[in-house]
Amino acid sequence: MKEEHENRLFENQVAIVTGAGVGIGFEIARKLAKNGAKIILNDIDKNLAEKASQKITDEQGVCKAFAGDVSEMSVIQDVVKFTVDNFGRLDILVANAGITTFGDFWEYQPISMQHLLQVNLFGTFFLTQAVTRQMVAQGEGGSVLLTSSVTAHAAHKNLAAYGMTKAAIDQLAKNLIVDLAPHGININTVVPGATLTERTLEDTEYISTWSRITPSGRPATIEDIAHAALFLVSPLSRQIMGQNLVIDGGWTSVGVSPYE
Ligand SMILES: NC(=O)c1ccc[n+]([C@@H]2O[C@H](COP(=O)([O-])OP(=O)(O)OC[C@H]3O[C@@H](n4cnc5c(N)ncnc54)[C@H](O)[C@@H]3O)[C@@H](O)[C@H]2O)c1
Repeated sequence: MKEEHENRLFENQVAIVTGAGVGIGFEIARKLAKNGAKIILNDIDKNLAEKASQKITDEQGVCKAFAGDVSEMSVIQDVVKFTVDNFGRLDILVANAGITTFGDFWEYQPISMQHLLQVNLFGTFFLTQAVTRQMVAQGEGGSVLLTSSVTAHAAHKNLAAYGMTKAAIDQLAKNLIVDLAPHGININTVVPGATLTERTLEDTEYISTWSRITPSGRPATIEDIAHAALFLVSPLSRQIMGQNLVIDGGWTSVGVSPYE
């Protein structure tokens, strides 16, 4: 059966989606494939990457798994080479891989900060550099989507360091317009609010808490985030550049009600 919004918008396009073994990245990869894109699906966990890639292939998508830590320079180079070797080109990057380290501000340790900066910032920055070098060499433009978070826009207890990295990612998308727009490459961020994934659902009160404090009455689904992501890497949004699209059911607009 045809999925809602399925219209092969991405026929003949090649996309890398990182951290896509489960969660938001997986759904973005799946929907891009449903709409005609060929996918390189990355995850640091080989087993997850292969299973996720197989699921997309089973749904008649074109998808290859690439396992590796995309915060390592050698892996970043390899994923770009693997993509071009397999599919001949590269049109879309969805830099979704990111880690969330909760920690009390007063207790936060340098080792946690180093890992967080390595994955969320170093990885995102240098993957974008490697991918866009390839796009510039192809000479036909492209789309880059980075992954932020509402914690870049509103305070959230125990997520100061994480929120800081996501605010930096939002600003990176704005800064890179200067370098990328002249080559026909657009770049934006998706800014997910609380989203139901395997990871967040480990908190048994996640749904009830976020349903209570979110104006829409529920946390986001991975489909909510993927719909926004597909729009931002599609031909429908070519004039949107350096923007941060918040998908949060209204949470950052109202803050938590003092009457709750
Ligand atoms: N889930 C949410 O509520 C939420 C909210 C705001 C922002 N985000 C952001 O969205 C993105 C996806 O979040 P999620 O909750 O769907 O994912 P997640 O935390 O469940 O992780 C998805 C996958 O990323 C992989 N991964 C982790 N580090 C990696 C690395 N260095 N290289 C390659 N793969 C790696 C993991 O193995 C995992 O399978 C993240 O950047 C996250 O910060 C999520």
